[in-house]
Amino acid sequence: MKIFLDTANVDEIREAVSWGVLYGITTNPSLVSKEGRDFKSLLLEICSLVKGPISAEVVGTTKEEMLREAHILAAIHEQIVVKIPLIVEGLKAVKVLSSEGIRTNVTLCFSPTQALLAAKAGASYISPFVGRLDDISHEGMETIRVIKTIYSQYGFTTEILAASLRHPLHVVEAAKIGADIGTMPFKVLEQLIKHPLTDLGLERFLKDWRVFKKEGIAQQTVTSATLPHSHV
Ligand code: E4P
Repeated sequence: MKIFLDTANVDEIREAVSWGVLYGITTNPSLVSKEGRDFKSLLLEICSLVKGPISAEVVGTTKEEMLREAHILAAIHEQIVVKIPLIVEGLKAVKVLSSEGIRTNVTLCFSPTQALLAAKAGASYISPFVGRLDDISHEGMETIRVIKTIYSQYGFTTEILAASLRHPLHVVEAAKIGADIGTMPFKVLEQLIKHPLTDLGLERFLKDWRVFKKEGIAQQTVTSATLPHSHV
C-alpha cells in the first residue's frame, strides 16, 4: 500500500519526505484554506517536494465548471491529479477528463455503488472516506472491502485510495484489505512509527553500552577487532 499524506502543509510534507516513505499527497479545499496561501504556488511547492501524484480539488459543481477548473489545475504541473466530487456532474466530468488523459481522484465516496460508477467513468483513483463513515456508525472499512472485491472481480484499474484514515488501525486494516493507497494526516503517520517497547529497548541498549564503555572493554573490542575507524 502506497502512503500518501493528507495535508497541504509544506512543513509536514518536507518532514515526511525526509523519512523516505511518502509516495503522494492528497489535499482538499478545507486543508488548502487552512494554509492561507495562493493555491497555485502552494501546489507548485508541494510538487517540488514530492515526486508523486498530488491531488488538487475542484470547487465547481457543474460539469462545465469542473472541466474548466480541471484544465487549469492539470496545466499547473504534470503531477497534479484532479479531485472531483462523486456527484452526477462529477461523473460526467470524469468521463471527459479520462478521455483527455487527465488523471482524476474521485472523492467523497461513501458507497460501493458510487465507486462502481466512478470506475466505469474512468476514474484513476477512488477515495472512499473511512473515518467519516465511522463517524455516523457505519463501518467505513467495510466499504473499502466491498469496493476491493468488485474492482478485482472485473479488473478495474481505478486505484483504491483509502481516505479519511484517522488512526493506525485504519491504516493496518486498509493494508490488510489490499487498498492501493492509504492517505493520512501527518499525526497518523507519526503514530505508525511509535512503539513504547522500541523506545524502552533502545534506552536499555544504550544504557548497557554506556556501562560497557565505561569499563573500557568496548573500546578495546570494537576498535581492535571489528570497527577500526569507529569513534566508539
Ligand atoms: C481525502 O482525500 C480527504 O482529504 C480526507 O481523507 C478527509 O479526511 P477527514 O474525514 O479526516 O477530514
